[in-house]
Amino acid sequence: MSLAQQNNVTAGGAKQAEHEFKNDPTATLEGVRGKDVTKAAKALLKDSATRGGGIRMQDVVKIYPGSTVHALDDFNLDIKPGEMVVLLGGSGCGKSTALRSLAGLEDIQGGRILVGGQDVTGVPVNKRGMSMVFQAYSLFPHMTAVENVEFGLEVRGIGREERRRVAMEQLELVGLADQANKFTQQMSGGQQQRVALARALAIKPRVLLLDEPLSALDAKVRVQLRDEIRRIQLDTGTTTVFVTHDQEEALAVADRIGVMNHGRIEQIAAPQDLYQRPATEYVATFIGLTNRLPGASDGEEAVVFGQRVPLLPGSKQGDPVAVLVRPENIALVRAGEAASAAGERARVEVIHFLGAVARVDCEISSGEYQHWNKGEQLKVTVQLPANELPAGLAVGDEVVVTPRPVAALAC
Ligand SMILES: Nc1ncnc2c1ncn2[C@@H]1O[C@H](COP(=O)(O)OP(=O)(O)OP(=O)(O)O)[C@@H](O)[C@H]1O
Ligand SMILES: [Mg+2]
Repeated sequence: MSLAQQNNVTAGGAKQAEHEFKNDPTATLEGVRGKDVTKAAKALLKDSATRGGGIRMQDVVKIYPGSTVHALDDFNLDIKPGEMVVLLGGSGCGKSTALRSLAGLEDIQGGRILVGGQDVTGVPVNKRGMSMVFQAYSLFPHMTAVENVEFGLEVRGIGREERRRVAMEQLELVGLADQANKFTQQMSGGQQQRVALARALAIKPRVLLLDEPLSALDAKVRVQLRDEIRRIQLDTGTTTVFVTHDQEEALAVADRIGVMNHGRIEQIAAPQDLYQRPATEYVATFIGLTNRLPGASDGEEAVVFGQRVPLLPGSKQGDPVAVLVRPENIALVRAGEAASAAGERARVEVIHFLGAVARVDCEISSGEYQHWNKGEQLKVTVQLPANELPAGLAVGDEVVVTPRPVAALAC
């Protein structure tokens, strides 16, 4: 997509967009009340404010021209007004397609899309009241930061003084007020991404769409800006969809995370729920670390290394099944100090000190599980608070690892 097209999402297409805006029942202008705002726009403002910005994508199908793959395959997503939903999933699972379809940048072959209860399925990009920020900054290099932020306001017919005021407010919000007159090509990646964010927010969109907006940035700036986006989103109450393939980023900012696979959402839930109660193996392995341990399951409970483990809904029955146990849900003691008969002997292979916690990679000593692990010794990763690590534990030491009775998924 060209730069001009990308900017179309936030800014519309010059005079044409200006004209359309004034006739557009979905456009918003909250907070922008300059003398140049037309009467019609004010009426629309009142109207759109009462409708809110919830999103519903219903049985959406997207097939790209010349392809037989369903990039979105009966895709369903409901987002409450003011909510921040993160779409997470591996490369090619359809995250960007979902966002672009929502924005109106892609036509869809089935289903419908509603914003604030209104069907926007056939409505063009610049009439959906949405702003999108992309991975590449897509700023105008020949304009200063403040001019970039003003752009979307200008094509919406906001007067010079008013748009400068609003643009400066937005730059303040992203911490760049002192850089307003710099050309964007003279700015760092993190600063440019902030300008892009300010530009997206300046038009007070009903819905903010962020497609991997931080992936071009280094780790530190990324965390900083991620937290800032969340703060701004909470402050402004903007309904937001944030796409990433970084699970930590997702866990940190989301009200809910939708884990996507093959053009669908496999599970959507609050971060903690998703982590503790994954519905499928794909979700469990996508979010956080998990051990895949052999167990005997009756569907309600499994026995793993001689220890009973309660099972989550949807767990499979059988013997053996894979029981997905998080590293922090495995106890580790020195061999000979185990309090119960349950557990398996293992040998410490690596100890990772991570500050507050430590992670210990072990290899199960018994050859009993080789058939389970493609002829290899079974490995288990344990995580525990660093101060609970047995004193003086070293690589090569013999330990006993035992799952804790915390609900797990069998599959
Ligand atoms: N313009 C296109 N034409 C044809 N197929 C496409 C096009 N864009 C994407 N696809 C295909 O649609 C599917 C979903 O792609 P999409 O870009 O939505 O994935 P994604 O989850 O955003 O991946 P990534 O994490 O790599 O950005 C993939 O199979 C991809 O190859
Ligand atoms: Mg993508």
